[in-house]
Amino acid sequence: MSGRLRPADDPASIDEGARLLREGGLVAFPTETVYGLGANAFDATAVARVFEVKARPSFDPLIVHLAAAADLDRVSTSEDPRVQRLAARFWPGPLTLVLPRRPDLPEIVTAGLDTVGVRVPGHSAARDLIRKAGTPVAAPSANPFGQVSPTTAVHVAELLGDGVDLILDGGPCRVGLESSIVALVSGTPTLLRPGGVAREEIEEALGAPLAESSPSAERPLAPGRLARHYSTRTPVRLLSGEAGPCPAGAGARVGLLAWRDAPDREGYAAVEILAPDGQAGTAAARLFAALRRLDALGLDTILAEPCDEGGLGLAIMDRLRRCAARS
Ligand code: TXA
Ligand code: MG
Repeated sequence: MSGRLRPADDPASIDEGARLLREGGLVAFPTETVYGLGANAFDATAVARVFEVKARPSFDPLIVHLAAAADLDRVSTSEDPRVQRLAARFWPGPLTLVLPRRPDLPEIVTAGLDTVGVRVPGHSAARDLIRKAGTPVAAPSANPFGQVSPTTAVHVAELLGDGVDLILDGGPCRVGLESSIVALVSGTPTLLRPGGVAREEIEEALGAPLAESSPSAERPLAPGRLARHYSTRTPVRLLSGEAGPCPAGAGARVGLLAWRDAPDREGYAAVEILAPDGQAGTAAARLFAALRRLDALGLDTILAEPCDEGGLGLAIMDRLRRCAARS
């Protein structure tokens, strides 16, 4: 039997997930950001199956998840005091640190890089699972490569179905966007991906500004950060300001991804409101599910309102731009 959904708050389900991980199985599990597709990070064969199930290119490394910051030395050799500072402030939580890797971590996890991405997830079921498995867990988002990340267990079942041995259902993800990724390898810390922790907060904790990532064509810093990521089947167009009535020429059936409700939204086939309360956190938590609902309607176009790029807005705009960056 594959792709079974089990409640993540049932200790027997966690036990079963932990056993499957130890035996080389794949377990999808909830985190506070998005659902992950987990394998024992020290079992190269199991990790290879993750790449296969996701159709993920082998040059794209996986994030390793730990039950606690105290386990960091199982995967990284870093002695940088800034790591302790960031871990103390943001773990468990939506921050991934890219650090020097330990040589015994299988190469496939880090795609041959000498660094490892690592985080302690903020969902207690994820930490229980990892603790009971007794091993760090390598896990990308539980979606086929290039698609929108799942924020519910049902999304995972729809996306990966039989490729997974067990899906732990921990409800909808609280944050809804992937973790922020910061490289702390040498010199200036670099923001590789904006995400669930606001850039301003990380900079405040470090007492210094983060550098921008400047990927080279051959080896991007975060190799999964291809411009055209998070694709929907329906083309997405990012608007330059607030939406009014449906613009002529946008297509026969147009969807709108709006920040707030407004009276003049005539002519759309469907409208999704991201932040009825005006909060970026609410919009982040609803973004991927809203995109998925619009994408399922077979529309001609999805128009998306932009937002302010402060706080979580930076990560929201990053994802919307990537959705829109398709040929
Ligand atoms: O919130 C998250 O981070 C979720 C949950 C499941 O933890 N995971 C997630 O994983 O988003 P994934 O595989 O979809 O995205 C991980 C990103 C990729 O763009 C990958 O290239 C980058 O992290 N990454 C992982 N290890 C890296 C490393 N050593 N150096 C640079 N980038 C790395
Ligand atoms: Mg992903």
